Amino acid sequence: MALDLASLYAEREAERYGLHARYLNGQMVRVLKALGYDVGFRKAQGPYLFDRNDERYLDLLSGWGVFALGRNHPGVRDALKAVLDNDLPNLVQMDVSPLAGILAERLLQRVPHLEKVFFANSGAEAVEAAIKFARAATGRPVIAHCSHAFHGLTYGALSLTADENFRRGFGPLLPDCVEVPFDDLEALDRALSSRQVAAFILEPIQGKGVNVPSDEYLTGVAALCRKHGALFVADEIQTGLGRTGRFLAVEHWGAEPDMVLLAKALSGGHVPVGAVLARGWILDKVFNRMDRAVVHGSTFSKNDLAMAAGLATLDAIETERLVENARARGERLLGAFEDMARRYELVRSVRGKGLMIGVEFGAPSSFKLKAAWTMLESMSAGIFCQMIAVPLFKHHKILTQVAGHGSHTIKLLPPLTISDSDCDWIERAFDAVIAESHRVPGAVWSLGKTLADHALRMRREPA
Ligand SMILES: Cc1ncc(COP(=O)(O)O)c(C=O)c1O
Repeated sequence: MALDLASLYAEREAERYGLHARYLNGQMVRVLKALGYDVGFRKAQGPYLFDRNDERYLDLLSGWGVFALGRNHPGVRDALKAVLDNDLPNLVQMDVSPLAGILAERLLQRVPHLEKVFFANSGAEAVEAAIKFARAATGRPVIAHCSHAFHGLTYGALSLTADENFRRGFGPLLPDCVEVPFDDLEALDRALSSRQVAAFILEPIQGKGVNVPSDEYLTGVAALCRKHGALFVADEIQTGLGRTGRFLAVEHWGAEPDMVLLAKALSGGHVPVGAVLARGWILDKVFNRMDRAVVHGSTFSKNDLAMAAGLATLDAIETERLVENARARGERLLGAFEDMARRYELVRSVRGKGLMIGVEFGAPSSFKLKAAWTMLESMSAGIFCQMIAVPLFKHHKILTQVAGHGSHTIKLLPPLTISDSDCDWIERAFDAVIAESHRVPGAVWSLGKTLADHALRMRREPA
């Protein structure tokens, strides 16, 4: 008898926390319970999640950016079903995939200065490929990356990820990786002048912190890379495919990288995927002889489900005008948050483009609030953002994220499909929670104290 997945899910979904504590990562279950996120989501549609009581939540996290089309998009679902219903000859390996060819063609139509595509299974795999390709194409060893960068958690990608919280305990990492400050062309010039640098990898807008560079930075990076013979790799795994109100974020500044990395949203969130778009000569140098035709690759890359989902995603981005929607809704939300920054002393700055937005909080100036802020920061740096995120979730049914370890920035990364009424929901909720956070004593600060105590206890009792 065929597996009845729907019944299995319905019968056992309530056991999810127990199953994970027992068989997967118990610490994740502790975190969810401590923050009150253990609401048992059972259904999802578009930008909405529904919990075990059928309460509707607006998802501003979108699975870390994979659900740019919203969840369970009908176009992606139909494409996936069609692959299965048509008995396609998937992953023959001693053949080449028509769907991969068509997806490569469509991606390059959107990025016409690049000529070839390499497909992988994830963002980190795309980064690993770019490291190898840059070394092979230039014959140089060094990869330069930025401070505060995040490029993934496999060894090569982790070696380019600056955050010590991710690195600690896993060394030694890849040698010959150098860090340069973000948005600093002079420092980059110095780093590249060794002429040992194969590539400089950069997120056009950094995911951790939502850091937006100054207007001349990206074209400056391209010029410096050209001057010193290094390749410019744009990691658009988070920023690409319309997220920032352009198909690629680099388009905001007219920069043309030598490689562009995509993943996350490319498959509509259903199937892992990654892609390296590159100048033709780079991939020609890697795959340069018949006996090197498979010198880099992986078993599942170019699989038909990922490729079909990618085609359906590009289709939806165009037909639903999602790049334009991201731009318009993003402008509206940025305007609303800038207004809050003027009204609330705890909001220090608002950054972002399109639907990648960071709201940064900072030390207030008024006496009572400042004392409360300083006390809490000394107990647990960065806890303030949880004091905003938790009530947003609990009282306003909005799922957000803190933009990195110890960060004071809340990040919004919603599906690109959100409507004006979703924006009303976001603005109302943030305004209410931020207003409440200005009352000392008050519910938000009591929550902060509880969370900080909890964090201290968890650090002392790791198991
Ligand atoms: C900019 C960037 N690069 C790389 C990655 C790694 O992608 P993955 O998690 O698919 O390995 C991420 C993931 O968050 C990312 O945001």
